[in-house]
Amino acid sequence: MTRTDGFEDDEFWTEFYDFLFSEQRYSQAEELLDSSPLLAFTPGARVLDLCCGPGVFTVPLARRGHHVTGVDRSPAMLERAREFCGAAGAKARFVRTDALHHVEPEAYDVVLNMFTSFGYFEEHAANMRVLRNMRACLEPGGRLLLDVAGKELLARKVVPPKVVHRGGDLLVQTDTVLDDWARLRSDWVLVRGDRVRRASLVWFVYSAVELRAMAEEAGFEEVEIFGGFDGRPYDQDAERLILRASRQG
Ligand SMILES: C[S@@+](CC[C@H](N)C(=O)[O-])C[C@H]1O[C@@H](n2cnc3c(N)ncnc32)[C@H](O)[C@@H]1O
Repeated sequence: MTRTDGFEDDEFWTEFYDFLFSEQRYSQAEELLDSSPLLAFTPGARVLDLCCGPGVFTVPLARRGHHVTGVDRSPAMLERAREFCGAAGAKARFVRTDALHHVEPEAYDVVLNMFTSFGYFEEHAANMRVLRNMRACLEPGGRLLLDVAGKELLARKVVPPKVVHRGGDLLVQTDTVLDDWARLRSDWVLVRGDRVRRASLVWFVYSAVELRAMAEEAGFEEVEIFGGFDGRPYDQDAERLILRASRQG
């Protein structure tokens, strides 16, 4: 039995790949880019896809004519992203680095952070720093779009453990609330043939109010919250917590 801890472990993203990045997610990304008012960027926009993973959004954005940079700290994820990009006949730039340190001053019109790729650092100050880095990467007038599973939504489905079958694999995911709902730990057990693989992830979960306050503290303006990519409000029918904000000046 092997065990993985934390988002920084390259093996986690590879081992659990099929469950995190299903074919359905790739096709859903295409659909969202065709239909979402929140993802309708000006033609040829310079887009930073921060924590891009295997390029689920990076590549289709590049194919739609945007100038996209995908940043991730996992070599395995970037390798998949590059392969996907090549196979799609698209052009994108990929950079291996840590979101904690990635700043390209005023180089982008859009910063994207998709599929709960925020709140990974143990210290609140580090997560704030990532937000400040995102702002620094934007040209004045540029926009951040950050998509997470909001705390209000997670509260509805944290228990009981989730069991997923895919192919011959079985995944059991158990979530535990930590630190008065500040953070969540997700314990994953993957049974693949005779092998059992365990992983444990801890991350900050945010309510809409908390995330808005953090964005404002980081210097963002025109902060808006949505409950889905169709632009719906963040209310009882919300599916995601999506923050859109702009850098002015
Ligand atoms: C949940 S996946 C999301 C990937 C992609 N945004 C998507 O929509 O499919 C999170 C990604 O964040 C990356 N990551 C984790 N910590 C990071 C860090 N400190 N700096 C940069 N990337 C990081 C992981 O390698 C992983 O590819």
